Amino acid sequence: MKKTRKIAVMNHKGGSGKSTTAVSVGHFLSDFGNKVALIDCDPQGNISSLVGLKLDRDTTATLYDILISDFPIEGVKQKVRQGFDIIPSNKKLAMAEMQMHALPAREWTLERQLSNFADDYDFVLLDCGPSLSLMVQNVLCYADELLIPCAADTLSVQGVAHAFESIEHTEKFFRRHPLILGIVPTFQNAVTSVAKVVVDYLKETYQDLVLPEVRLDTKVTRAAAQGETILEYSPKSRAAEDYRQLASKIAQISAKEVLLGVAQTVSR
Ligand SMILES: Nc1ncnc2c1ncn2[C@@H]1O[C@H](COP(=O)(O)OP(=O)(O)OP(=O)(O)O)[C@@H](O)[C@H]1O
Ligand SMILES: [Mg+2]
Repeated sequence: MKKTRKIAVMNHKGGSGKSTTAVSVGHFLSDFGNKVALIDCDPQGNISSLVGLKLDRDTTATLYDILISDFPIEGVKQKVRQGFDIIPSNKKLAMAEMQMHALPAREWTLERQLSNFADDYDFVLLDCGPSLSLMVQNVLCYADELLIPCAADTLSVQGVAHAFESIEHTEKFFRRHPLILGIVPTFQNAVTSVAKVVVDYLKETYQDLVLPEVRLDTKVTRAAAQGETILEYSPKSRAAEDYRQLASKIAQISAKEVLLGVAQTVSR
């Protein structure tokens, strides 16, 4: 029986390329013939805009309804491309956070409410917000693998170490151990030396956990403004080339045990 791969895209540092990576990798994986679902676990709700989906604030059902009111998933998921569904979110997800605090086993709400949802897919991707919130803890209790985009700056590198610590926390308190799929250097720019310094550091520290890089490309921002993925907007662009390669690598490799000792050293 096939096992669905449940991959969280996470870095507690904002603006590290999480949502762009989730959408781009998701669309390429579906383009390769996989069935993919992308769950927006961030109240910013960026995933909908990135795929050009307009949500009606009052009537469109979102992840909030699944988490808080047992709303059927069929009424929430939206087919946005061939073989590519999303579960959208919006600001209401922040309210779900508050309401979840009162629930028993609150860190397991997502796992409980999604029950067999993943079975219909080859990949379920989860886009996390930039914080260590209860929602992100829910994602860590649901996903089996972590993909960590890391922008070309020091704070983003610290975010990588924090992601490792979150895994350790999850193992200690929830007896769950998501594996590291890899770290994706994003915003790579041949013109500035800091990007190279960051990648060299990541490779030295995390070795083969470092996945193919994604270069800085203004087409990414333009695609986002149009509500198109990079595969649609400019399939021959640098970013499309990089995300195609990354998605192909992700489809082939398996996640690894995390090196907690390394993470602790880095975060000090
Ligand atoms: N490779 C790239 N080249 C140029 N711009 C990029 C690239 N990747 C992402 N961006 C832009 O950088 C910004 C931040 O990216 P993104 O929203 O994916 O980050 P994020 O980690 O999801 O942010 P947040 O933490 O707020 O959720 C967006 O405007 C996006 O269009
Ligand atoms: Mg985001």
